[in-house]
Amino acid sequence: MINIVIFGPPGAGKGTQSERLQSHYNLVHISTGDLFRAHIKGETKLGVEAKSYIDKGDLVPDSVTIGMLRDKVEDNPQANGFIFDGFPRTTPQADSLDALLNSLNKGINVCLSLQVSDEELVARLLNRGKTSGRADDANEAVIRNRLAVYQRETAPLKEFYAKQDKLADINGVGTIDEIFGRLCDAVDAH
Ligand code: AP5
Ligand code: MG
Repeated sequence: MINIVIFGPPGAGKGTQSERLQSHYNLVHISTGDLFRAHIKGETKLGVEAKSYIDKGDLVPDSVTIGMLRDKVEDNPQANGFIFDGFPRTTPQADSLDALLNSLNKGINVCLSLQVSDEELVARLLNRGKTSGRADDANEAVIRNRLAVYQRETAPLKEFYAKQDKLADINGVGTIDEIFGRLCDAVDAH
């Protein structure tokens, strides 16, 4: 079993690369952002609550997010492994993910941390915002808030995985194929 955390700021390419990794390593891809967007579309109670945070570029509270992630892992008992995309984003989320995997006698193999400059991230997200319909891509102020939230609340988790010798820093600029090659090299080395 291989369990991968794909990590990085908004627009770093986590979703794009997860699709490749999922088929290459036969894993189940769990994106908490995609799960929230499905709840918003379905107008569920969870979706209505999450939308108020997401549209501003803030994090959804841990109490909501951790339960949703746990349900998704438990829905896939036969999985060969998981790619966690956009989770964990806070220390309580990282602790709860370790506890959940430990309870299954598993763990995270590697945290792949994509590195991209803020200017490139803003350009990518504004460009996607022209067609994505995502409220959090629609204007630069919300995008800049997402980047600030990432720096403040999520980037410190790199240290969490570095202490466990699981952090791999990956240059996230280049073609999608080039970056995928770098990610596979890091997975295969762990
Ligand atoms: P989420 O959906 O996770 O969004 P995000 O992390 O802000 O980032 P994106 O999904 O926008 O970017 P990505 O890194 O996946 O890049 P992508 O491949 O799409 O979260 C949304 C919100 O939900 C959060 O703000 C929060 O409110 C909430 N949320 C989610 N998880 C949560 C959690 N755990 N706790 C609390 N709240 C949570 O690529 C981006 C663009 O760049 C695309 O247009 C793509 O085509 C392009 N691109 C990709 N690769 C390249 C490349 N190599 N060169 C040029 N362009 C590229
Ligand atoms: Mg994504």
